[in-house]
Amino acid sequence: MKIIKNIDILRNTINEYGENKAIGFVPTMGFLHEGHLSLIEKASSENDITVVSIFVNPTQFGPGEDFETYPRDLDRDARLAEGAGADILFFPDAREIYPIGASTFVEVEGAITKKLCGSSRPAHFKGVTTVVNTLFNIVSPHKAYFGQKDAQQLAVIKKMVRDLHMQVTIVACPIVRETDGLALSSRNVGLNPEERKQALILSQALNRARNLWKTGETDVKILKAVISDGINTMPLADIDYVDILDFNTLEAIKKIEAPALAAVAVRFGDTRLIDNIILE
Ligand code: PAJ
Repeated sequence: MKIIKNIDILRNTINEYGENKAIGFVPTMGFLHEGHLSLIEKASSENDITVVSIFVNPTQFGPGEDFETYPRDLDRDARLAEGAGADILFFPDAREIYPIGASTFVEVEGAITKKLCGSSRPAHFKGVTTVVNTLFNIVSPHKAYFGQKDAQQLAVIKKMVRDLHMQVTIVACPIVRETDGLALSSRNVGLNPEERKQALILSQALNRARNLWKTGETDVKILKAVISDGINTMPLADIDYVDILDFNTLEAIKKIEAPALAAVAVRFGDTRLIDNIILE
């Protein structure tokens, strides 16, 4: 696996593989875990060349968020990415991605970026779509792999690709969880043992709502209350949002009549965790 920091070298290296090679791309912010690795493995099984990027993107962090403290470990990441089938690890610094004076952004407007994470992180998705668009321009992938863990991010990126007629297929990959149910996240290392124990409530409360829905409850208000009440039993949990929305459009719904997304964001100390479940 080659580790490359420079855009021209990356493009030349990809070209050296020859024409008509299928390029799979997995953008990440590093500190890789089994969730990331599942995306890399899938990309590697479906493409001739698998490019993984590691870039902690400053523009998607708001003031006071964890950009500075976001966990980083390139050596470990390189070992893991290579083991999962990556051919190229793109590890640019901020100046490479955002040249001095860069002032161009890609923004998906509307409710899709305003609710859920968009309401507590107002500039977040603008940073995500800008960097993902930039990375797509650099890598020119045929397929790009994203986790359902970040369900709203996935929906926003699909919309950007559709709206701008971008020539890339977005592949959605299922959430990978710890054996006890906690969704894997690079941010989980920020939890102390007690917070880690209590964080289990996210997947438990979402499952409780799913079980109730499976027995016939379709009222969103009731299902949301079940999730919130469950999470609030944990003294260290501070709810950012609990919502149930149309899975495809992320529009508000009152009753579940089509596939729906139940999504939560909860703070434990300085660590903000998200999780979701699809009701379909
Ligand atoms: P990051 O949080 O590093 O995640 C990179 C990719 O891994 C995303 O598509 C995310 O949904 C996926 N992922 C994370 N945890 C997962 C899990 N437990 N199961 C399955 N997939 C999981 O998301 C970002 O980085 C950034 O916003 C990025 C898209 C790279 C733009 O900067």
